[in-house]
Amino acid sequence: MRPPLLLLLPLLLLLSSCGAATPPADTPFQLPAPRNLKVHLYNAQQALSWEPVSLNNDTRPVVYQVQYKYSTSSTWYDVNRKDSRVDCTNLTGTECNFTANSLSEGFPRHFNITLRLRAKLGDLVSAWVKAPWFEHYRNATIGPPEDIWVTPEEGSLIISFSSPFDVPASVAFFWYYVYYWEKGGSKQVTHRFRSNFITLNDLKPLRVYCFQLKAELFLAKENISRPGHLSNISCSETTVDASTKLQQVILISMGTFLLLSVLVGACLFLVLKYRGLVKYWFHSAPSIPSQIEEYLKDPAQPILDALDKDSSPKDDAWDSVSIVSFPENKQEDILQNTLNQSTDPSHQPVEGGP
Ligand SMILES: *[C@@H]1O[C@H](CO)[C@@H](O)[C@H](O)[C@H]1NC(C)=O
Ligand SMILES: *[C@@H]1O[C@H](CO)[C@@H](O)[C@H](O)[C@H]1NC(C)=O
Ligand SMILES: *[C@@H]1O[C@H](CO)[C@@H](O)[C@H](O)[C@H]1NC(C)=O
Ligand SMILES: *[C@@H]1O[C@H](CO)[C@@H](O)[C@H](O)[C@H]1NC(C)=O
Ligand SMILES: *[C@@H]1O[C@H](CO)[C@@H](O)[C@H](O)[C@H]1NC(C)=O
Ligand SMILES: *[C@@H]1O[C@H](CO)[C@@H](O)[C@H](O)[C@H]1NC(C)=O
Ligand SMILES: *[C@@H]1O[C@H](CO)[C@@H](O)[C@H](O)[C@H]1NC(C)=O
Repeated sequence: MRPPLLLLLPLLLLLSSCGAATPPADTPFQLPAPRNLKVHLYNAQQALSWEPVSLNNDTRPVVYQVQYKYSTSSTWYDVNRKDSRVDCTNLTGTECNFTANSLSEGFPRHFNITLRLRAKLGDLVSAWVKAPWFEHYRNATIGPPEDIWVTPEEGSLIISFSSPFDVPASVAFFWYYVYYWEKGGSKQVTHRFRSNFITLNDLKPLRVYCFQLKAELFLAKENISRPGHLSNISCSETTVDASTKLQQVILISMGTFLLLSVLVGACLFLVLKYRGLVKYWFHSAPSIPSQIEEYLKDPAQPILDALDKDSSPKDDAWDSVSIVSFPENKQEDILQNTLNQSTDPSHQPVEGGP
C-alpha cells in the first residue's frame, strides 16, 4: 500500500501544481492590469483611484474589483456592502470611496491596511495590482481647522474653530497653531494649544490683523505627529472698548462744544469792547458809506417832500403877507397919518379930499 502512495505522491504533486497553475495561466494575462493606483487619505476620507483599462477590440465595459487585508492577516477580503457598507466588487468607475456615505467610516484608522485591485471583463480578469500599505493616522493629509470664527475685541482677537475631523481622544488629538501678523508686519506664531478657542492678546486697538490656523495630528501612543495644512488667510480689525469709545465720543463732543463756546464768547466780547472801532471799520469800508448815505437819504426823502408841501402854503402866506404887508404898511402909514392928522386938524381935508 505504501509504495503506490509514495509513487503517487510526485504525481499528485505534479497534478496539484498543474491544477494550481492552470487557472492563473489562463486568467491573469487576458486583461491588462489597472495602473497608477493612488490611496487618497484626506482628513477622515479614504479612497482608492486608478487609471482605467482600455481595450480596443471589445466594447463591453471593464469592471474593477478591490480587496483589502490587514498587516496582521494573510487573507484578502472583498470590499462589499456587507462588511464595508460600500461595494467595490464590480465597479465601472475608477474610484472606490471607502467613506462614500455616513454609514461607511472606512478602515480603522490605526490599522495597517493593504489594498489590491484587478480589472474584469466577463470571464476575463487582469492580474492583481497592490497599492502601498497605509495607516490612516500616519498617512492622512490633515486639512486646516474649519468653521473659523473671529470676534474682534479691544487689543485682541478671539478665534474659535472646529477640528479638521473628529478623532477619539484615547487615540489621537490635535495641536493647533496660529500664525498671525499685523497687516504689513512680520509673522508670529503662537505656542501650540489644544483648545478650539484662542485669544490673541497684546494687539494694538484699531489695527488690521491677519492670521492662519494650522492643526497637527498627534498620536499619543505612537508619539508621532502629522502636520496639517494652513487655513486661508483671514483678517480682522481690532476694536476699541465700548466704554473707551463712549468716553472718546463724549470728550470729542464736549471739546467741540467748549471750543465753539469760547469762540462765540470771544467774538461777543470783542464786539462789545470795541464797538466804536467795529462801527468805524464798517463805516470806513470803501463801499459802505455811499450806500449808507443813499439808504439814509431815501427814507428821508418823503419827509422832506412832506415838509416842502407843508411849507408851500406858508410860503404863499409869506408872499401874501409880504404883499398884504405893503398895504398894511401903507395903512399903518395912513393910520399914522390920520392919527397925526387927527392930532393936527389941518390935515383932515387932505384925507377926505380924493
Ligand atoms: C483583445 O485583444 C487582446 C490583445 O490586445 C487579446 O488578448 C484579447 O483576447 C482580445 N479580446 C477579445 C475579446 O477579442
Ligand atoms: C504595514 O504592513 C506592511 C506589510 O503589509 C509592512 O511592510 C509595514 O512595515 C507595516 N507598517 C507598519 C507601520 O507597521
Ligand atoms: C459582479 O459581476 C459578476 C459578473 O461580472 C457577477 O458574477 C457578480 O455576482 C457581481 N457581483 C456583485 C457583487 O454584483
Ligand atoms: C468620498 O465620498 C465623500 C462623501 O460623499 C466625499 O465627501 C468625498 O469627497 C469622496 N472622496 C473622494 C476622494 O472622492
Ligand atoms: C504611508 O506612509 C509610509 C511611510 O510612513 C509610506 O511608506 C507609505 O507608502 C505610505 N502609504 C501611502 C498609501 O502613501
Ligand atoms: C516623542 O518624540 C519626540 C521627538 O519626535 C521626543 O522628543 C520625545 O521625547 C518623545 N516622547 C516620548 C514620550 O517618547
Ligand atoms: C480658500 O481659498 C481658496 C481660493 O483662494 C478657495 O477656493 C477655498 O474655498 C478657500 N477655502 C476655504 C475653507 O474658505
